[in-house]
Amino acid sequence: MKMLKEKWHILSALAVMVLAALTIGGCHMIPLGDSGSQKGVASIIGVSQANMREEWRVALINELREETEKYEDIQIVTTDATGSAAKQVQDIDNLIGYGMDLLIISPCDEKIMGEKIKEVYDSGIPVIVMDRSVEGFDYTLYIGPDNGVIGQQAGSYIIDHLGDKGGDVVVLQGNPASVQGTERLSGFKGAIENAPGITLHEVYLAAESKDAAYDIVVTAKNIVENSDIIFAYSDSMALGACDALKALGLDNKVMIVDCDGFKGADEGIDLVSQGRLMATVSCPIGGKEAIDYAFSILNNESGVPKQVILRSNIIDKSNVEENLNRINADTSDDGRKIKVGYSQVGQESNWRLANTKSIEESAKAFNIDLHMEIADQSQEKQFEAIRSFIKEGVDVIVVSPVVETGWDEVLREAKAAGIPVIMSDRNVLVENREENLTTTYLGADFVEEGRRAMRWIRDNVDSTGGDMKIMEIMGNVGASPTEERDAGFREILEENPGYEISYSAYGDFTFDGGKKVIREYLEKNEWDIDIIFSQNDDMALGAIEELKAHGIKPDEDVKIISVDATTEAFEAMVRGELSCAVECNPIIGPQLMKAIRDLCSGKQMPFRIITDEKVYDQSVAEDYIRKRRY
Ligand code: AHR
Repeated sequence: MKMLKEKWHILSALAVMVLAALTIGGCHMIPLGDSGSQKGVASIIGVSQANMREEWRVALINELREETEKYEDIQIVTTDATGSAAKQVQDIDNLIGYGMDLLIISPCDEKIMGEKIKEVYDSGIPVIVMDRSVEGFDYTLYIGPDNGVIGQQAGSYIIDHLGDKGGDVVVLQGNPASVQGTERLSGFKGAIENAPGITLHEVYLAAESKDAAYDIVVTAKNIVENSDIIFAYSDSMALGACDALKALGLDNKVMIVDCDGFKGADEGIDLVSQGRLMATVSCPIGGKEAIDYAFSILNNESGVPKQVILRSNIIDKSNVEENLNRINADTSDDGRKIKVGYSQVGQESNWRLANTKSIEESAKAFNIDLHMEIADQSQEKQFEAIRSFIKEGVDVIVVSPVVETGWDEVLREAKAAGIPVIMSDRNVLVENREENLTTTYLGADFVEEGRRAMRWIRDNVDSTGGDMKIMEIMGNVGASPTEERDAGFREILEENPGYEISYSAYGDFTFDGGKKVIREYLEKNEWDIDIIFSQNDDMALGAIEELKAHGIKPDEDVKIISVDATTEAFEAMVRGELSCAVECNPIIGPQLMKAIRDLCSGKQMPFRIITDEKVYDQSVAEDYIRKRRY
């Protein structure tokens, strides 16, 4: 961070420039968080907003300002790109010129802004990307909702409400250029598409506003009066529709469901309280989270993930009070000791040992009383551990599950006991997501890891000479890293003719498992494999040992790519045996403990917290090996 005094000079100059620019009417700079307070400033956060036309973008800026007020030494400077990527690039250059320490950006355009974001990130300024992601991973953190899921939730709610008899639904369509709106709509249509007896009537607004919604509902009176539900994808559109229904005398006949669920008078939650909206699907804006993480980033704190996918809830009359209480509750951490039961899958790999250590060490640092049970790869043992935690009355249960399926019953028991469950490292597949049996899932993006492995192969192992044979050494049957890494790998493989998976076998994520896969293959075949994709380092190292014992030279006779990137993998790359290691970061203790403390102080958990990971190969192994923490 730069010196306080220097900042003040910059900020004063900025304020003068802004005032000057405002007088000529072309500037959208909003100085100093609009707080007017003259506190000491240690850090400037530049906020580059794509436009200030869309309602929720204005809400984001307001939330960012509100949150910034809580920090003594942070100020925000906001710019409005008015929907133009060229202007947004210019805005960012201006913010850099003003000495911004961190950029928060809601990008206009994935491609152009992706390049600019990369440039800023590479220059050493941390970047938080909000609401709309960009290509690649060249940013510090992404925070956003899943608009497709929001639309889906609205669709499922309407299907449930209409039941078997079905009905007519009017969809109020807005600006086709709004990515959020388009994603919500496609999620909504996807959910409703195959529902029996539902007829959709789509009507288009001239502009995305309350007035435009009012006008269109009045104009479309003939359709509306014969309908059961209006689906509006924003709070302002819903408010316009509410007023129009009242004017038409249809407010007791036609229901409205919308998305946004903002707080404040006449916004979604208030309209549900007033009984004017049947339901709203909340779209968390993420301003709170952005400032919270910005503070951690500026202070070099650990525990900052790569992506945070925010959670959306259906709010109707059955839970509106509960939601209002949650929103208005004091969520400051009282620092009390929290009791956590952790069911760890086993000790199968070096990755797992580093993961366990990270969790144990962080628990101490976060004043958390951790009770960890190691399950030795047994789902039965994990059930026993969870049941014993329930009996003990812990505050939170954390599970790293051996397989994805079969958890519904025990998770229901935890829910019935009022104990929230967090999934750590690996996730579960439940029968009905709406049951909300888990609160959040924190860990790597396994699908992306698989993609990264195959992309490295595509870019580094020439396939022009014919079909390259790949051996895939998988983890244990039914585990999420096994299934998802395989899916990601195959996704990129399919786009690249010239490579084929000619042999697959399970090695259970262990060194011995990797050895066994090679041994068994060589018992039946001559060695004819060009590439090994091993789903973890331990299996790759076991495979390397076995290959060498058979006179097959790793990296020379066969390229070997593995996942995890532990110190042992780096050593193997430096020795010239392992070709590439895709990172899966086991150091998730700080993020997990932060999530646990947030959960216990009443903050809403994001849907998903994704860790930060990279790809390393022999060309960089020497440089990175000294920095490895696991
Ligand atoms: O779930 C993460 C995986 O499990 C790691 O990649 C592997 O090494 C571990 O055993």
